[in-house]
Amino acid sequence: MRHKVTLLPGEGIGTEVSRATRRILEAAGVQIDWEEIDARANGCGPSDTGQVLNQTAVESVRRNGVALKGPMATAIAGGAPSVNVALRKTLDLYANLRLVKNLPGLKSRFENVDVVIVRENTEDLYSGLEHEVVPGVVESLKIITERASTRIARFAFTHAKKEGRKKIHAIHKANIMKLSDGLFLRSIRAVAAEFPEIEYKEMIVDNACMQIVLNPQQFDVLLLPNLYGDVMSDLAAGLVGGLGVVPSGNIGDNGAIFEAVHGTAPDIAGKGLANPTALLMSSILMLDYLGERSAARRIETALETVYREAKHTTHDVGGNAGTDQFTEAVIAALPLRVS
Ligand code: NAI
Repeated sequence: MRHKVTLLPGEGIGTEVSRATRRILEAAGVQIDWEEIDARANGCGPSDTGQVLNQTAVESVRRNGVALKGPMATAIAGGAPSVNVALRKTLDLYANLRLVKNLPGLKSRFENVDVVIVRENTEDLYSGLEHEVVPGVVESLKIITERASTRIARFAFTHAKKEGRKKIHAIHKANIMKLSDGLFLRSIRAVAAEFPEIEYKEMIVDNACMQIVLNPQQFDVLLLPNLYGDVMSDLAAGLVGGLGVVPSGNIGDNGAIFEAVHGTAPDIAGKGLANPTALLMSSILMLDYLGERSAARRIETALETVYREAKHTTHDVGGNAGTDQFTEAVIAALPLRVS
């Protein structure tokens, strides 16, 4: 089946890793018509204020329902709001999905880790509602709603069921934030009752952080509000080799953007050294989302072969290959198509 997908190549190494990913998907025979667009509004840089999003890109994702995106730069403590966050908000991509799994052959701190992380993407302390009450006192509002908590819970349970996952842990701090995290938990419990085949557990966030570094294999799916999800998903990535080998998707009811979680890597941009693994793995999540399961598994197998053989891996993971050599090695390792 042919698909139309928006390609938002991004900045810095974004253009390099998205070109590599596109080459591999094409070599795997996936039939995609790419609509390549810059996500940033014309003429707006990371330090400018005002309109940051290219509306043509937003319309393209709305129309196609799916996008693959490279990283975009964001100014720190000032300047324009993040293009990444603006895209998620504008398109109401409320579920952040990350797959934290060992890549065979890549040495990391743990083995046999296979955890899905589902993070609520739209509210909590990230609502941006902050003000200075009096000089020296700032108030930041944590927003939790039954609507957002229920829909992220439904997303997590539905995804777990579809992927054959067995257990979901809701992560919270409802012992202290009794109202906000309490509402988050109550909303999830109501959805959990609709999925008796999936074991449901709850864990306080500080304990969960300790547990995941002591024994990550005990977890199957983690379901978290925005802030804990942000922190724990990077922590979990560290267990299997870091942000360079972890895919992610931001998914809503009317569309999805799959993207690498690393940044634009200005220190190596333009040098042909970038590792496309994270974006390639995100594209595998995208292929699963599009129902292209067979192509997804073939690319996964090729990627695992390249890492297992360790002859053509990139500098960031201890190898000597550049982006092009790595890409060609993955293409050469693609298993034949069974038609
Ligand atoms: P970064 O992830 O760009 O770089 C951190 C380190 O990791 C650097 O040494 C870089 O060379 C290396 N690295 C990252 N990705 C790599 C890859 N694929 N292959 C090889 N090495 C890689 O983080 P940093 O420096 O904090 O951020 C740079 C810019 O990226 C900032 O403007 C930031 O706002 C933006 N950013 C964008 C994200 C997105 O679009 N989703 C996510 C994170 C940061």
